[in-house]
Amino acid sequence: MIVVKPLMRRQIPDVVALEREATAFPWTEKMYTDSLDAGYWGGGLCEGTQLLGVAMVSSGVGESHLLNMCIGLDQQGRGLGRLLLRGACRRALEMGADKMFLEVRAGNGRAISLYRSVGFRQIGIRKDYYPGVLNREDAVCMALNLLECTLEC
Ligand SMILES: CC(C)(COP(=O)(O)OP(=O)(O)OC[C@H]1O[C@@H](n2cnc3c(N)ncnc32)[C@H](O)[C@@H]1OP(=O)(O)O)[C@@H](O)C(=O)NCCC(=O)NCCS
Repeated sequence: MIVVKPLMRRQIPDVVALEREATAFPWTEKMYTDSLDAGYWGGGLCEGTQLLGVAMVSSGVGESHLLNMCIGLDQQGRGLGRLLLRGACRRALEMGADKMFLEVRAGNGRAISLYRSVGFRQIGIRKDYYPGVLNREDAVCMALNLLECTLEC
């Protein structure tokens, strides 16, 4: 069975390895450690002892922010991203948020499609927000009303 579980500190090296394989711009070990130290919610998508994906969410004063999410390269395209995203949204609701915000690279069409498919809408663009390989890249800012979206799997 595939489930979303709270991310444990001891899993961080595995998370970093998974993300390094899956994206050109992975988070570092310190970013994960700092996020957990700050009290953010980390979710690991797991099948038994195997880690399939990770998400990180901050939450406060009724709002949440999806800081990062990643599905292992060999596991992508089988619905796990949506499963993990819905799990992260459910957790944000439990933490008292009624909205979720995120930024995503403008060139990351795959992630943008995923976010749209659960109800995220574009609310703005941050010019040159991300470092890139050659040039900086815009961020698409998106928002989701957690009270109106469908979170059943
Ligand atoms: C973006 C990411 C999380 C998607 O996870 P995934 O498990 O592959 O996605 P799913 O199989 O759950 O697909 C869900 C939706 O995403 C979109 N999607 C998935 N693969 C896609 C592709 N190759 N092209 C376009 N859209 C795609 C579709 O909308 C899809 O819905 P559908 O299957 O009903 O059409 C994954 O590709 C990933 O981890 N990428 C690297 C890290 C990253 O970019 N993270 C986002 C940072 S903001």
